[in-house]
Amino acid sequence: MQRIRPSIAYEQMFCVESSAPQCGLVVFGASGDLTKRKLIPALANLFKRELLPADFFFLGCGRKELNDNDFRKIAADAVTDILPAATRLSSSKSEKRADFLNNFHYIKGDYGSKNLYSDIEKRLFELDKKTGKNFGRIFYLALPPLLYPDVIKNLGLAGLNKSENGKFVRLVVEKPFGRDLQSALELNDSLSRWFTEEQVYRIDHYLGKETVQNILMFRFANSIFEPVWSRDYIDHIQITIAESIGIETRGGYYDKSGALRDMFVNHMLSMLSLVAMEPPASFAAEPIRDEKVKLLRSIRPFSLAPGSEDIIRGQYAAGSIDGNQVPAYRQEADVEKNSKTETYIAIRLFVDNWRWRDVPFYLRTGKRLAGRVTEVAVVFKKVPHLMFASAGIEQLPANVLVLKIQPQEGISLFFEAKRPGPKLCIGTLQMDFNYAEIFGDQPPEAYQRLLLDCMLGDQTLFTRIDDVKLAWQLIDNVLATWRQQDMEPPFYPAGSESFPQADALIQKDGRNWRKISY
Ligand code: BG6
Repeated sequence: MQRIRPSIAYEQMFCVESSAPQCGLVVFGASGDLTKRKLIPALANLFKRELLPADFFFLGCGRKELNDNDFRKIAADAVTDILPAATRLSSSKSEKRADFLNNFHYIKGDYGSKNLYSDIEKRLFELDKKTGKNFGRIFYLALPPLLYPDVIKNLGLAGLNKSENGKFVRLVVEKPFGRDLQSALELNDSLSRWFTEEQVYRIDHYLGKETVQNILMFRFANSIFEPVWSRDYIDHIQITIAESIGIETRGGYYDKSGALRDMFVNHMLSMLSLVAMEPPASFAAEPIRDEKVKLLRSIRPFSLAPGSEDIIRGQYAAGSIDGNQVPAYRQEADVEKNSKTETYIAIRLFVDNWRWRDVPFYLRTGKRLAGRVTEVAVVFKKVPHLMFASAGIEQLPANVLVLKIQPQEGISLFFEAKRPGPKLCIGTLQMDFNYAEIFGDQPPEAYQRLLLDCMLGDQTLFTRIDDVKLAWQLIDNVLATWRQQDMEPPFYPAGSESFPQADALIQKDGRNWRKISY
Protein backbone atom coordinates (compact mmCIF):
# COMPACT_ATOMS: atom_id res chain seq x y z
CA MET A 1 0.00 0.00 0.00
CA GLN A 2 1.23 3.49 -0.84
CA ARG A 3 1.28 6.06 1.91
CA ILE A 4 0.85 9.74 1.07
CA ARG A 5 2.46 12.38 3.27
CA PRO A 6 0.53 15.45 2.22
CA SER A 7 1.88 18.85 3.11
CA ILE A 8 -0.83 19.97 5.46
CA ALA A 9 -1.12 23.62 6.37
CA TYR A 10 -2.91 24.32 9.60
CA GLU A 11 -4.29 27.77 9.83
CA GLN A 12 -5.52 28.50 13.29
CA MET A 13 -8.82 30.27 13.17
CA PHE A 14 -10.12 30.24 16.64
CA CYS A 15 -8.70 29.23 19.95
CA VAL A 16 -10.30 29.42 23.37
CA GLU A 17 -8.43 28.65 26.59
CA SER A 18 -9.32 30.18 29.96
CA SER A 19 -7.27 30.04 33.14
CA ALA A 20 -8.72 28.52 36.26
CA PRO A 21 -10.39 30.80 38.80
CA GLN A 22 -9.22 31.02 42.42
CA CYS A 23 -9.53 27.47 43.71
CA GLY A 24 -7.85 24.53 45.40
CA LEU A 25 -8.05 20.78 45.25
CA VAL A 26 -8.66 18.49 48.22
CA VAL A 27 -7.68 14.99 47.19
CA PHE A 28 -8.77 11.89 49.12
CA GLY A 29 -6.30 9.10 48.37
CA ALA A 30 -3.41 11.54 48.04
CA SER A 31 -0.70 9.01 48.75
CA GLY A 32 -2.03 6.69 46.04
CA ASP A 33 -0.98 5.93 42.53
CA LEU A 34 -3.49 8.07 40.64
CA THR A 35 -2.40 11.18 42.51
CA LYS A 36 1.28 10.62 41.75
CA ARG A 37 0.96 9.39 38.18
CA LYS A 38 -1.83 11.58 36.88
CA LEU A 39 -3.12 14.38 39.08
CA ILE A 40 0.12 16.02 40.22
CA PRO A 41 1.77 15.91 36.76
CA ALA A 42 -1.40 17.30 35.16
CA LEU A 43 -1.41 20.20 37.63
CA ALA A 44 2.29 20.83 37.03
CA ASN A 45 1.60 21.11 33.31
CA LEU A 46 -1.29 23.50 33.90
CA PHE A 47 0.97 25.53 36.20
CA LYS A 48 3.67 25.62 33.55
CA ARG A 49 1.16 26.80 30.97
CA GLU A 50 0.11 29.52 33.48
CA LEU A 51 -3.44 28.26 33.65
CA LEU A 52 -3.53 27.85 37.44
CA PRO A 53 -4.25 30.76 39.79
CA ALA A 54 -1.26 32.10 41.73
CA ASP A 55 -2.47 30.91 45.14
CA PHE A 56 -3.73 27.56 43.97
CA PHE A 57 -3.45 24.87 46.67
CA PHE A 58 -3.47 21.08 46.80
CA LEU A 59 -4.52 19.56 50.08
CA GLY A 60 -3.80 15.85 50.09
CA CYS A 61 -5.62 13.52 52.52
CA GLY A 62 -4.56 9.96 53.11
CA ARG A 63 -4.08 7.23 55.67
CA LYS A 64 -0.31 7.32 55.40
CA GLU A 65 1.64 9.14 58.09
CA LEU A 66 3.13 12.08 56.12
CA ASN A 67 3.68 15.75 56.81
CA ASP A 68 3.61 18.64 54.33
CA ASN A 69 7.33 18.25 53.59
CA ASP A 70 7.08 14.51 52.93
CA PHE A 71 4.18 15.16 50.60
CA ARG A 72 6.07 17.91 48.78
CA LYS A 73 8.88 15.43 48.18
CA ILE A 74 6.39 12.99 46.64
CA ALA A 75 5.02 15.80 44.48
CA ALA A 76 8.57 16.86 43.52
CA ASP A 77 9.35 13.33 42.31
CA ALA A 78 6.15 13.24 40.32
CA VAL A 79 7.02 16.40 38.39
CA THR A 80 10.77 16.04 37.74
CA ASP A 81 10.21 15.83 33.97
CA ILE A 82 7.81 18.76 33.85
CA LEU A 83 9.38 21.19 36.32
CA PRO A 84 13.00 20.00 36.51
CA ALA A 85 15.04 20.54 39.67
CA ALA A 86 17.37 23.52 39.89
CA THR A 87 20.49 23.85 37.82
CA ARG A 88 22.93 26.73 38.17
CA LEU A 89 21.75 28.12 34.87
CA SER A 90 18.06 28.14 35.55
CA SER A 91 17.31 29.79 38.85
CA SER A 92 14.02 31.23 37.58
CA LYS A 93 12.93 27.72 36.66
CA SER A 94 13.80 26.40 40.10
CA GLU A 95 11.88 29.25 41.71
CA LYS A 96 8.88 28.23 39.63
CA ARG A 97 9.24 24.65 40.78
CA ALA A 98 9.46 25.75 44.41
CA ASP A 99 6.40 27.99 43.98
CA PHE A 100 4.47 25.03 42.63
CA LEU A 101 5.55 22.63 45.35
CA ASN A 102 4.89 25.07 48.18
CA ASN A 103 1.22 24.84 47.32
CA PHE A 104 1.11 21.22 48.50
CA HIS A 105 -0.22 20.34 51.95
CA TYR A 106 -1.13 17.07 53.62
CA ILE A 107 -3.47 15.80 56.33
CA LYS A 108 -3.38 12.28 57.65
CA GLY A 109 -6.67 10.77 58.70
CA ASP A 110 -9.18 8.00 58.65
CA TYR A 111 -11.87 8.52 55.98
CA GLY A 112 -14.57 7.25 58.30
CA SER A 113 -13.65 9.57 61.19
CA LYS A 114 -15.24 12.98 61.72
CA ASN A 115 -11.87 14.33 62.91
CA LEU A 116 -10.46 14.21 59.42
CA TYR A 117 -13.20 16.49 58.14
CA SER A 118 -12.86 19.02 60.93
CA ASP A 119 -9.09 19.04 60.27
CA ILE A 120 -9.79 19.67 56.60
CA GLU A 121 -12.15 22.49 57.47
CA LYS A 122 -9.54 24.08 59.74
CA ARG A 123 -6.84 23.82 57.07
CA LEU A 124 -9.11 25.31 54.41
CA PHE A 125 -9.98 28.16 56.73
CA GLU A 126 -6.27 28.84 57.38
CA LEU A 127 -5.49 28.76 53.66
CA ASP A 128 -8.30 31.22 52.93
CA LYS A 129 -7.08 33.45 55.75
CA LYS A 130 -3.44 33.36 54.69
CA THR A 131 -4.20 34.59 51.20
CA GLY A 132 -7.23 36.68 52.11
CA LYS A 133 -9.03 34.97 49.26
CA ASN A 134 -12.19 33.01 49.05
CA PHE A 135 -11.20 29.79 47.30
CA GLY A 136 -13.45 27.54 45.29
CA ARG A 137 -13.00 23.97 46.48
CA ILE A 138 -12.80 20.80 44.53
CA PHE A 139 -12.98 17.53 46.46
CA TYR A 140 -11.50 14.66 44.50
CA LEU A 141 -12.20 11.00 45.28
CA ALA A 142 -9.06 9.16 44.17
CA LEU A 143 -9.96 6.23 46.42
CA PRO A 144 -11.21 2.66 46.19
CA PRO A 145 -14.94 3.11 45.39
CA LEU A 146 -15.92 1.21 48.54
CA LEU A 147 -14.89 4.30 50.49
CA TYR A 148 -16.90 6.82 48.43
CA PRO A 149 -20.13 6.71 50.47
CA ASP A 150 -18.31 7.36 53.75
CA VAL A 151 -16.37 10.31 52.42
CA ILE A 152 -19.41 11.80 50.70
CA LYS A 153 -21.51 11.51 53.86
CA ASN A 154 -18.80 12.96 56.09
CA LEU A 155 -18.21 15.88 53.74
CA GLY A 156 -21.92 16.54 53.91
CA LEU A 157 -22.17 16.22 57.70
CA ALA A 158 -19.25 18.62 58.09
CA GLY A 159 -21.01 21.13 55.82
CA LEU A 160 -18.09 21.01 53.39
CA ASN A 161 -20.49 20.30 50.52
CA LYS A 162 -22.03 23.75 50.50
CA SER A 163 -21.28 26.32 47.82
CA GLU A 164 -21.76 29.65 49.58
CA ASN A 165 -20.55 33.26 49.59
CA GLY A 166 -19.69 32.98 45.91
CA LYS A 167 -17.34 30.09 46.64
CA PHE A 168 -18.03 26.98 44.58
CA VAL A 169 -17.74 23.42 45.88
CA ARG A 170 -17.39 20.57 43.39
CA LEU A 171 -16.84 16.84 43.76
CA VAL A 172 -14.87 14.73 41.30
CA VAL A 173 -15.68 11.03 41.27
CA GLU A 174 -13.33 8.58 39.58
CA LYS A 175 -14.61 5.51 37.79
CA PRO A 176 -15.97 2.93 38.41
CA PHE A 177 -19.29 4.52 39.33
CA GLY A 178 -20.83 1.39 40.82
CA ARG A 179 -20.37 -2.19 39.64
CA ASP A 180 -23.87 -2.70 38.24
CA LEU A 181 -27.07 -0.72 37.88
CA GLN A 182 -28.19 -1.28 41.46
CA SER A 183 -24.91 -0.21 43.07
CA ALA A 184 -24.64 2.81 40.73
CA LEU A 185 -28.12 3.90 41.81
CA GLU A 186 -27.20 3.43 45.47
CA LEU A 187 -24.01 5.42 45.08
CA ASN A 188 -25.94 8.13 43.34
CA ASP A 189 -28.49 8.22 46.15
CA SER A 190 -25.77 8.83 48.67
CA LEU A 191 -24.27 11.51 46.42
CA SER A 192 -27.49 13.33 45.74
CA ARG A 193 -28.28 13.56 49.46
CA TRP A 194 -25.37 15.97 49.82
CA PHE A 195 -24.41 17.27 46.37
CA THR A 196 -26.41 18.56 43.43
CA GLU A 197 -25.81 17.11 39.95
CA GLU A 198 -24.20 20.45 38.96
CA GLN A 199 -21.57 19.89 41.66
CA VAL A 200 -20.67 16.36 40.58
CA TYR A 201 -17.96 15.65 37.99
CA ARG A 202 -17.83 11.93 37.05
CA ILE A 203 -14.57 11.24 35.29
CA ASP A 204 -14.16 9.17 32.17
CA HIS A 205 -10.59 10.02 31.27
CA TYR A 206 -11.12 8.98 27.63
CA LEU A 207 -13.22 12.11 27.15
CA GLY A 208 -10.21 14.19 28.19
CA LYS A 209 -8.10 12.81 25.35
CA GLU A 210 -7.54 15.35 22.59
CA THR A 211 -8.09 12.76 19.89
CA VAL A 212 -11.42 11.73 21.41
CA GLN A 213 -12.58 15.35 21.63
CA ASN A 214 -11.50 15.82 18.04
CA ILE A 215 -14.24 13.39 16.98
CA LEU A 216 -16.69 16.23 17.68
CA MET A 217 -14.65 18.77 15.71
CA PHE A 218 -14.15 16.35 12.85
CA ARG A 219 -17.83 15.60 12.57
CA PHE A 220 -19.37 18.96 13.34
CA ALA A 221 -16.83 21.57 12.23
CA ASN A 222 -16.79 20.15 8.69
CA SER A 223 -19.63 19.85 6.25
CA ILE A 224 -18.26 17.13 3.99
CA PHE A 225 -18.40 14.17 6.38
CA GLU A 226 -21.85 14.51 7.92
CA PRO A 227 -23.80 13.77 4.71
CA VAL A 228 -22.06 10.39 4.39
CA TRP A 229 -22.17 9.63 8.12
CA SER A 230 -25.13 7.27 8.02
CA ARG A 231 -26.52 3.90 7.01
CA ASP A 232 -26.68 5.14 3.40
CA TYR A 233 -22.88 5.16 3.05
CA ILE A 234 -21.39 3.34 6.02
CA ASP A 235 -21.14 -0.45 6.05
CA HIS A 236 -20.00 -0.79 9.66
CA ILE A 237 -17.87 0.83 12.35
CA GLN A 238 -15.14 -0.83 14.43
CA ILE A 239 -14.07 0.62 17.76
CA THR A 240 -10.96 -0.97 19.22
CA ILE A 241 -9.09 -0.45 22.47
CA ALA A 242 -6.32 -3.05 22.39
CA GLU A 243 -3.71 -3.09 25.11
CA SER A 244 -0.53 -5.12 25.27
CA ILE A 245 -0.16 -4.53 29.00
CA GLY A 246 -1.77 -6.92 31.45
CA ILE A 247 -3.45 -5.92 34.67
CA GLU A 248 -0.16 -4.79 36.23
CA THR A 249 -0.57 -4.41 40.00
CA ARG A 250 -4.34 -4.05 39.91
CA GLY A 251 -5.33 -7.71 40.25
CA GLY A 252 -7.49 -7.09 43.33
CA TYR A 253 -9.62 -4.50 41.55
CA TYR A 254 -9.61 -6.06 38.10
CA ASP A 255 -10.62 -9.55 39.14
CA LYS A 256 -13.87 -8.15 40.54
CA SER A 257 -14.40 -5.95 37.55
CA GLY A 258 -13.40 -7.45 34.19
CA ALA A 259 -13.23 -5.80 30.80
CA LEU A 260 -16.95 -5.14 30.43
CA ARG A 261 -17.10 -3.00 33.56
CA ASP A 262 -13.57 -1.63 33.28
CA MET A 263 -13.65 -0.43 29.67
CA PHE A 264 -16.98 -0.89 27.91
CA VAL A 265 -19.43 0.75 30.24
CA ASN A 266 -17.43 3.98 30.23
CA HIS A 267 -14.60 4.53 27.70
CA MET A 268 -16.02 2.51 24.82
CA LEU A 269 -19.54 3.82 25.17
CA SER A 270 -18.22 7.38 25.40
CA MET A 271 -16.35 6.97 22.14
CA LEU A 272 -19.35 5.33 20.53
CA SER A 273 -21.58 8.22 21.64
CA LEU A 274 -19.32 10.83 20.07
CA VAL A 275 -19.04 8.88 16.84
CA ALA A 276 -22.74 8.14 16.50
CA MET A 277 -24.63 10.99 18.22
CA GLU A 278 -26.81 13.50 16.38
CA PRO A 279 -25.42 17.03 16.02
CA PRO A 280 -25.83 18.86 19.36
CA ALA A 281 -27.49 22.27 19.30
CA SER A 282 -24.37 23.95 20.70
CA PHE A 283 -20.92 23.22 22.05
CA ALA A 284 -22.00 23.25 25.67
CA ALA A 285 -22.32 20.66 28.38
CA GLU A 286 -26.05 19.97 28.38
CA PRO A 287 -26.73 19.85 24.62
CA ILE A 288 -23.78 17.48 24.14
CA ARG A 289 -24.70 15.32 27.10
CA ASP A 290 -28.34 15.24 25.94
CA GLU A 291 -27.27 13.83 22.58
CA LYS A 292 -25.02 11.22 24.23
CA VAL A 293 -27.92 10.05 26.34
CA LYS A 294 -30.28 9.98 23.35
CA LEU A 295 -27.80 7.76 21.54
CA LEU A 296 -27.45 5.37 24.48
CA ARG A 297 -31.23 5.08 24.62
CA SER A 298 -31.25 3.90 21.01
CA ILE A 299 -28.89 0.96 21.53
CA ARG A 300 -30.65 -2.34 20.91
CA PRO A 301 -30.44 -4.75 23.88
CA PHE A 302 -27.75 -7.37 23.31
CA SER A 303 -28.72 -10.83 22.21
CA LEU A 304 -27.18 -13.57 24.33
CA ALA A 305 -28.82 -16.44 22.48
CA PRO A 306 -26.27 -19.11 21.57
CA GLY A 307 -25.30 -18.82 17.94
CA SER A 308 -26.56 -15.25 17.58
CA GLU A 309 -24.88 -13.72 20.58
CA ASP A 310 -23.79 -10.05 20.33
CA ILE A 311 -21.11 -10.34 22.96
CA ILE A 312 -18.23 -12.70 23.57
CA ARG A 313 -15.45 -12.68 26.14
CA GLY A 314 -12.01 -14.15 26.64
CA GLN A 315 -9.24 -14.38 29.20
CA TYR A 316 -5.52 -14.31 28.49
CA ALA A 317 -3.45 -17.40 29.01
CA ALA A 318 0.34 -17.37 29.25
CA GLY A 319 2.08 -16.22 26.10
CA SER A 320 4.67 -13.90 24.73
CA ILE A 321 4.65 -10.14 24.18
CA ASP A 322 7.50 -8.54 22.24
CA GLY A 323 9.50 -11.73 22.67
CA ASN A 324 9.03 -11.83 26.46
CA GLN A 325 7.16 -14.62 28.19
CA VAL A 326 4.26 -13.31 30.29
CA PRO A 327 2.08 -15.22 32.76
CA ALA A 328 -1.55 -16.15 32.36
CA TYR A 329 -4.16 -13.87 33.91
CA ARG A 330 -4.86 -16.52 36.54
CA GLN A 331 -1.24 -16.41 37.59
CA GLU A 332 -1.21 -12.65 38.18
CA ALA A 333 -0.99 -11.34 41.76
CA ASP A 334 -4.30 -10.96 43.61
CA VAL A 335 -6.26 -12.89 40.98
CA GLU A 336 -8.27 -16.00 41.91
CA LYS A 337 -6.54 -19.14 40.67
CA ASN A 338 -9.69 -20.29 38.85
CA SER A 339 -10.94 -16.81 38.00
CA LYS A 340 -13.58 -16.52 35.26
CA THR A 341 -13.12 -12.79 34.87
CA GLU A 342 -12.92 -11.61 31.27
CA THR A 343 -9.87 -9.69 30.09
CA TYR A 344 -11.29 -9.35 26.58
CA ILE A 345 -14.70 -8.56 25.16
CA ALA A 346 -16.02 -8.15 21.65
CA ILE A 347 -19.48 -6.78 21.05
CA ARG A 348 -21.74 -6.32 18.07
CA LEU A 349 -24.10 -3.51 18.68
CA PHE A 350 -26.93 -1.80 16.78
CA VAL A 351 -28.28 1.70 17.19
CA ASP A 352 -31.96 1.71 16.39
CA ASN A 353 -32.57 5.14 14.91
CA TRP A 354 -33.00 6.63 11.44
CA ARG A 355 -29.30 7.27 10.96
CA TRP A 356 -27.91 3.91 12.01
CA ARG A 357 -30.61 1.27 11.73
CA ASP A 358 -28.93 -2.08 10.87
CA VAL A 359 -25.38 -0.71 10.69
CA PRO A 360 -23.30 -2.94 12.98
CA PHE A 361 -20.87 -1.37 15.39
CA TYR A 362 -18.19 -3.87 16.39
CA LEU A 363 -16.42 -2.99 19.63
CA ARG A 364 -13.55 -4.89 21.20
CA THR A 365 -11.13 -4.33 24.00
CA GLY A 366 -8.62 -6.61 25.63
CA LYS A 367 -5.47 -6.86 27.63
CA ARG A 368 -2.26 -8.64 26.64
CA LEU A 369 -3.02 -8.42 22.94
CA ALA A 370 -0.50 -8.26 20.12
CA GLY A 371 -0.35 -4.47 20.06
CA ARG A 372 -1.53 -1.26 21.64
CA VAL A 373 -4.02 0.61 19.55
CA THR A 374 -7.12 2.65 20.17
CA GLU A 375 -9.03 3.65 17.07
CA VAL A 376 -12.40 4.15 15.47
CA ALA A 377 -12.55 2.76 11.93
CA VAL A 378 -15.45 3.84 9.76
CA VAL A 379 -15.77 1.34 6.94
CA PHE A 380 -17.78 2.68 4.02
CA LYS A 381 -19.92 0.63 1.66
CA LYS A 382 -18.23 -0.69 -1.42
CA VAL A 383 -18.95 0.98 -4.77
CA PRO A 384 -22.47 0.07 -5.87
CA HIS A 385 -21.45 -0.91 -9.38
CA LEU A 386 -18.04 -2.23 -10.33
CA MET A 387 -17.49 -0.70 -13.74
CA PHE A 388 -13.92 -2.02 -13.80
CA ALA A 389 -15.24 -5.60 -13.79
CA SER A 390 -15.30 -5.50 -17.58
CA ALA A 391 -11.51 -4.97 -17.45
CA GLY A 392 -10.98 -7.90 -15.11
CA ILE A 393 -11.05 -6.19 -11.69
CA GLU A 394 -13.38 -8.32 -9.66
CA GLN A 395 -13.46 -6.45 -6.40
CA LEU A 396 -12.31 -3.23 -4.82
CA PRO A 397 -11.74 -2.68 -1.12
CA ALA A 398 -14.02 -0.33 0.79
CA ASN A 399 -12.90 3.17 1.75
CA VAL A 400 -11.97 3.35 5.40
CA LEU A 401 -11.60 6.39 7.59
CA VAL A 402 -9.62 5.73 10.76
CA LEU A 403 -9.74 8.10 13.72
CA LYS A 404 -6.57 7.17 15.54
CA ILE A 405 -6.88 7.84 19.22
CA GLN A 406 -3.57 6.42 20.49
CA PRO A 407 -0.65 5.71 20.54
CA GLN A 408 -0.51 7.07 17.01
CA GLU A 409 -2.69 10.14 17.07
CA GLY A 410 -4.25 11.27 13.85
CA ILE A 411 -6.60 10.42 11.05
CA SER A 412 -6.07 8.16 8.05
CA LEU A 413 -8.17 7.82 4.96
CA PHE A 414 -7.83 4.81 2.69
CA PHE A 415 -8.97 5.26 -0.88
CA GLU A 416 -8.40 3.79 -4.31
CA ALA A 417 -6.34 5.49 -6.98
CA LYS A 418 -4.83 4.83 -10.37
CA ARG A 419 -1.17 4.09 -10.58
CA PRO A 420 0.42 6.19 -13.33
CA GLY A 421 1.60 4.28 -16.36
CA PRO A 422 -0.44 1.17 -17.00
CA LYS A 423 -3.83 1.74 -18.58
CA LEU A 424 -5.64 0.31 -15.62
CA CYS A 425 -3.87 -0.23 -12.36
CA ILE A 426 -5.73 0.51 -9.14
CA GLY A 427 -4.31 0.39 -5.65
CA THR A 428 -5.13 1.57 -2.13
CA LEU A 429 -3.61 4.78 -0.84
CA GLN A 430 -3.39 5.77 2.79
CA MET A 431 -3.53 9.49 3.44
CA ASP A 432 -2.38 10.37 6.96
CA PHE A 433 -2.74 13.32 9.25
CA ASN A 434 -0.54 12.94 12.29
CA TYR A 435 -0.89 15.20 15.33
CA ALA A 436 2.79 15.17 16.25
CA GLU A 437 3.84 16.16 12.71
CA ILE A 438 1.48 19.10 12.55
CA PHE A 439 1.36 20.36 16.12
CA GLY A 440 4.80 19.31 17.31
CA ASP A 441 4.53 17.84 20.77
CA GLN A 442 2.31 15.05 21.97
CA PRO A 443 -1.17 16.37 22.84
CA PRO A 444 -1.65 17.23 26.53
CA GLU A 445 -2.56 14.34 28.78
CA ALA A 446 -6.30 13.85 29.45
CA TYR A 447 -6.21 14.86 33.13
CA GLN A 448 -5.01 18.38 32.31
CA ARG A 449 -8.14 19.08 30.29
CA LEU A 450 -10.41 17.42 32.85
CA LEU A 451 -8.96 19.17 35.89
CA LEU A 452 -9.02 22.54 34.18
CA ASP A 453 -12.60 22.06 32.99
CA CYS A 454 -13.68 21.10 36.48
CA MET A 455 -12.05 24.24 37.90
CA LEU A 456 -13.84 26.26 35.23
CA GLY A 457 -17.17 24.58 35.98
CA ASP A 458 -17.52 23.03 32.52
CA GLN A 459 -19.21 19.62 32.76
CA THR A 460 -19.13 18.81 29.02
CA LEU A 461 -16.51 16.07 29.35
CA PHE A 462 -17.97 14.55 32.50
CA THR A 463 -20.60 11.86 32.63
CA ARG A 464 -24.10 12.79 33.68
CA ILE A 465 -26.08 10.42 35.87
CA ASP A 466 -28.65 9.46 33.21
CA ASP A 467 -25.74 8.43 30.96
CA VAL A 468 -24.32 6.24 33.75
CA LYS A 469 -27.68 4.58 34.37
CA LEU A 470 -28.27 3.79 30.71
CA ALA A 471 -24.79 2.32 30.35
CA TRP A 472 -25.33 -0.03 33.30
CA GLN A 473 -28.83 -0.90 32.11
CA LEU A 474 -27.35 -2.05 28.85
CA ILE A 475 -25.02 -4.58 30.43
CA ASP A 476 -26.88 -5.56 33.59
CA ASN A 477 -28.52 -8.48 31.84
CA VAL A 478 -25.17 -9.63 30.43
CA LEU A 479 -23.53 -9.53 33.86
CA ALA A 480 -26.41 -11.47 35.39
CA THR A 481 -26.32 -14.12 32.65
CA TRP A 482 -22.57 -14.61 32.96
CA ARG A 483 -22.95 -14.88 36.71
CA GLN A 484 -25.68 -17.52 36.36
CA GLN A 485 -23.86 -19.50 33.69
CA ASP A 486 -20.69 -19.43 35.77
CA MET A 487 -18.68 -20.62 32.77
CA GLU A 488 -15.02 -20.24 31.97
CA PRO A 489 -14.40 -17.72 29.22
CA PRO A 490 -12.39 -18.94 26.22
CA PHE A 491 -8.64 -18.47 26.67
CA TYR A 492 -6.34 -16.65 24.25
CA PRO A 493 -2.57 -16.72 24.49
CA ALA A 494 -1.04 -13.42 25.61
CA GLY A 495 0.26 -11.62 22.54
CA SER A 496 -2.64 -12.76 20.31
CA GLU A 497 -3.93 -10.67 17.46
CA SER A 498 -7.36 -12.25 18.01
CA PHE A 499 -8.84 -15.70 18.71
CA PRO A 500 -11.49 -17.91 17.10
CA GLN A 501 -14.51 -16.86 19.18
CA ALA A 502 -13.72 -13.16 18.66
CA ASP A 503 -13.26 -13.71 14.94
CA ALA A 504 -16.51 -15.64 14.70
CA LEU A 505 -18.49 -12.67 16.08
CA ILE A 506 -17.63 -10.51 13.10
CA GLN A 507 -17.01 -13.20 10.48
CA LYS A 508 -20.54 -14.55 10.79
CA ASP A 509 -21.59 -11.20 9.27
CA GLY A 510 -19.05 -11.59 6.46
CA ARG A 511 -16.62 -9.03 7.89
CA ASN A 512 -13.18 -9.08 9.51
CA TRP A 513 -11.45 -7.28 12.35
CA ARG A 514 -8.82 -4.74 11.43
CA LYS A 515 -5.33 -5.72 12.45
CA ILE A 516 -4.05 -4.41 15.77
CA SER A 517 -0.36 -5.12 15.25
CA TYR A 518 1.70 -3.86 12.33
C1 BG6 B 1 -8.55 2.57 32.77
C2 BG6 B 1 -8.72 1.09 32.97
O1 BG6 B 1 -9.75 3.25 32.99
O2 BG6 B 1 -8.11 2.80 31.43
C3 BG6 B 1 -7.43 0.34 32.67
O3 BG6 B 1 -9.10 0.86 34.32
C4 BG6 B 1 -6.95 0.68 31.27
O4 BG6 B 1 -7.63 -1.05 32.80
C5 BG6 B 1 -6.87 2.19 31.10
O5 BG6 B 1 -5.65 0.12 31.10
C6 BG6 B 1 -6.56 2.55 29.68
O6 BG6 B 1 -6.36 3.93 29.61
P1 BG6 B 1 -5.36 4.54 28.55
O7 BG6 B 1 -5.51 6.01 28.70
O8 BG6 B 1 -3.99 4.02 28.87
O9 BG6 B 1 -5.84 4.03 27.23
